[in-house]
Amino acid sequence: MMLRCENVNARYGPAHVLFDVSFEVPEGSLVALVGRNGVGKSTTLKTIMGLVPARSGTIHFEGRPIHRLEPFRIARIGIGYVPEERRVFSDLSIDENLEVAERPGPWSRQRIYREFPALAELRARRAGLLSGGQQQMLAIARSLATNPRLLLMDEPTEGLAPVIVGALRSLVQALRREGQTCLLAAQDLHFALATADQVLVMNKGQVTYRTSGEAARADMSPLAERLAV
Ligand SMILES: Nc1ncnc2c1ncn2[C@@H]1O[C@H](COP(=O)(O)OP(=O)(O)OP(=O)(O)O)[C@@H](O)[C@H]1O
Ligand SMILES: [Mg+2]
Repeated sequence: MMLRCENVNARYGPAHVLFDVSFEVPEGSLVALVGRNGVGKSTTLKTIMGLVPARSGTIHFEGRPIHRLEPFRIARIGIGYVPEERRVFSDLSIDENLEVAERPGPWSRQRIYREFPALAELRARRAGLLSGGQQQMLAIARSLATNPRLLLMDEPTEGLAPVIVGALRSLVQALRREGQTCLLAAQDLHFALATADQVLVMNKGQVTYRTSGEAARADMSPLAERLAV
């Protein structure tokens, strides 16, 4: 199993926000965490990255416990993280942003430019001059350039125009076809369903429903019901 979270609890000061969260991400699959505002999707990703401490429970990555590691170590052992606030170096060009992130592995710059033709065209442009959608593409591309075995993406479509959301959907579908393991947090149910092998619904800090992407695409109503609780 690539990632296994077992009974993870997390809090911000006195506020308990994750309650015994347990789930797995199999190698080569895309797992989507869905749920409304404030249910704990981002906190789950931050806890995996070590940015929020797991107060109890365990997180294993490829069999190795990571719940007590520092964030930079977690990144170094192969987990990429694209946070909600797409961080790119705005003074650097697209190409320089990728160059500084690059680590050996299958995601070479050539392959990234093949999957992200819009970035290839603009490779000399300063990242600060890009649109929100282009910055999101670059944030994902930067993370891929580190060659993570697991890629965490938080709300990649938030605030983007429909045409950009469509391009991101194709991109994430391509990642999945190419065997990139991903954990996606999204309020955007349509986006999550278009790409997911497994869907987990969160409610008030707990995983309350699990289904396969296939079943959810065939009939969305059980999922929609759980989301509305
Ligand atoms: N830094 C923080 N300090 C205190 N409470 C926080 C902090 N960040 C998040 N919370 C609270 O923790 C809970 C879970 O928040 P989280 O951001 O994980 O939810 P989310 O599912 O990602 O929501 P959204 O869909 O809005 O992104 C919410 O009640 C939120 O208000
Ligand atoms: Mg969030």
